[in-house]
Amino acid sequence: MFKRVAGTKDILPDEAGHWQAIETAARHTFSLFNYREIRTPIIEDAALFNRTLGSTTEIVQKQMFLIHNHPDVYALRPEGTASIARSYLENNLDKTSAFIKLYYIGPMFRLERPQKGRLRQFHHIGCEAIGSQEAALDVEVISLADQLLKGFAITDYKIKINSLGCAEDKERLSLNLKQGLQKEEQNLCPDCRLRIQKNILRVLDCKNDGCQKIVKQLEFKNSHLCQDCLNHFEKVRSGLDSLGIAYQIQPQLVRGLDYYNRTVFEITHPDLGAQDAIGAGGRYNNLIKELGGPDTSGIGFAFGVERLLLASKLGEEKPLNKLTYLITLGDAAKEAGIKILNQLRSYGIACEMDYLSRSLKSAMRAANDLNADYVLILGEDELKKNVISLKEMSGGSQREINIHDLTKELKC
Ligand code: HAM
Repeated sequence: MFKRVAGTKDILPDEAGHWQAIETAARHTFSLFNYREIRTPIIEDAALFNRTLGSTTEIVQKQMFLIHNHPDVYALRPEGTASIARSYLENNLDKTSAFIKLYYIGPMFRLERPQKGRLRQFHHIGCEAIGSQEAALDVEVISLADQLLKGFAITDYKIKINSLGCAEDKERLSLNLKQGLQKEEQNLCPDCRLRIQKNILRVLDCKNDGCQKIVKQLEFKNSHLCQDCLNHFEKVRSGLDSLGIAYQIQPQLVRGLDYYNRTVFEITHPDLGAQDAIGAGGRYNNLIKELGGPDTSGIGFAFGVERLLLASKLGEEKPLNKLTYLITLGDAAKEAGIKILNQLRSYGIACEMDYLSRSLKSAMRAANDLNADYVLILGEDELKKNVISLKEMSGGSQREINIHDLTKELKC
């Protein structure tokens, strides 16, 4: 017996309604904010991620699913932002609109150690707004995340924000961090000792318990921010205040990807256990330029759908569309039944038939298991009289009606 690959999940029909409800709610909210959908390939040139996420990040160093097709190396995308930036430039979207808002829903792949809420194939609902560096956009993007969560019927989440500042500020932050970590260097894991030399901010995302303990004890201030970046952050905060969006400032929040600058944020939920980030994002003012494009800023975020589902009950209720279940008795009735189903469906009536030639009693049980609203029973006698029995499952009443009136009866 084959088994699914570790860290992947089958989404069975009982669960799929929950997924659909989340996706429908997301599409609705995105359209309220004027975002349009973009779908990019799951495989990309692996170098795209090295260049944008950063060669010293956990994802690039340890978590990429690589496909070697000499001389090319492809990667299963670990996230959406780099692909959207690539697509934005490749399709000249920068030339067709100065400002664009895009959203995406789809699978992402990271070779992580699987555990609750951490998969190797997981799904993002994400968005990117490209073309503006105004703080008002940061405010709108965070309020979009907030509104999406409300649409998913998720409560009790916490929005944590920080500002990394510009490239020079990030340098200053790295220097501050170097000073802070100096005494503890020997107690860091071998990877982090290397990170101190190559990209010290990545020490803050290390999953090693010892390193996390050391990082927690560090003192952070926003002293690395220049005046422009301080002003920007101040505007973001007052914008969120004016919308009544609760947030916490978390100075040690740097995010695990190199493309971020200025505003970064993460949203956590207490029901998720150790992997408590339900979504995260931030601003990337150099990413498009880094890929050879114009000097254009962007900001976005992504929610992990599997984690949203752990916190949301949306869509767990019975689907609203009514189902009619047809039971036929005998070959002639089955033949006529196929035509009846065809006609009902052409009128938009959802229906199903017993394909296992069960007894009336067990076919009724099957209809019940499917939560059918109506059962139709068609035997040889009914067929001769051109009638069909219609049973309402909720009240239990049963009556005979003319087959020609069936669509009318079920429509109302
Ligand atoms: P990220 O923080 O790497 O950001 O991922 C976003 C969210 O995806 C996380 O908060 C988490 O909910 C979910 N997630 C990440 N890894 C896993 C996993 N292995 N299993 C299950 N869920 C996971 C990004 O990917 C950025 N591209 C977000 C962004 C968009 N920034 C700007 N625009």
